Amino acid sequence: MIEPLARIRQADVADVPILVEARRRMFVDMGDDCPALDAVDAASAAWLAERIPTGAASGLIAEDADGRWIGALSVRHEDTPPSAGNPAGRQSYVFGLWVRHECRRRGVARALVTAAVEDARERGEGAVLLNATDVGRPLYESLGFEVAPAMRLFFDPAS
Ligand SMILES: CC(C)(COP(=O)(O)OP(=O)(O)OC[C@H]1O[C@@H](n2cnc3c(N)ncnc32)[C@H](O)[C@@H]1OP(=O)(O)O)[C@@H](O)C(=O)NCCC(=O)NCCS
Repeated sequence: MIEPLARIRQADVADVPILVEARRRMFVDMGDDCPALDAVDAASAAWLAERIPTGAASGLIAEDADGRWIGALSVRHEDTPPSAGNPAGRQSYVFGLWVRHECRRRGVARALVTAAVEDARERGEGAVLLNATDVGRPLYESLGFEVAPAMRLFFDPAS
């Protein structure tokens, strides 16, 4: 296997702090560092801790040979109305992918996303969805993901 990646493992509830830290660092790298992230971390930790035991969410953790985590991602396993493209009506939504700076460009993210796609197949899901950053887009496209126009409307949390 390519150094520094030694293995990828499924997260359990004890790993929620790793998944939350990875997602926070992703937001910071995206330029979204703001005071609200502390509250987001706490709420995300509770969200994951509730869902990982039920299988409604999962996480994957990349480790180096010393057992140090070097990257991670989270997944929401969701119902969706069955369609021709996804008759199973089940899909993965991948989020919170982040790789340590000193470990980048060595295939860690590729291995994490590949493992998430394989896991989705094994669960009988029909699709894997995600929102890509500019940095992440080439990786996803090389793994077969296509751009699908999605629209969204956020409500102002302060109003
Ligand atoms: C995006 C990110 C997860 C990639 O992690 P990584 O382990 O370096 O990715 P990989 O080594 O598996 O790279 C796979 C491919 O992604 C693309 N890629 C990775 N880093 C890139 C960069 N800085 N610029 C352009 N393309 C890049 C390349 O196509 C690369 O293939 P190559 O090695 O053949 O050139 C990492 O840069 C990161 O954590 N960024 C900040 C958070 C973020 O944007 N997360 C993604 C949210 S969708």
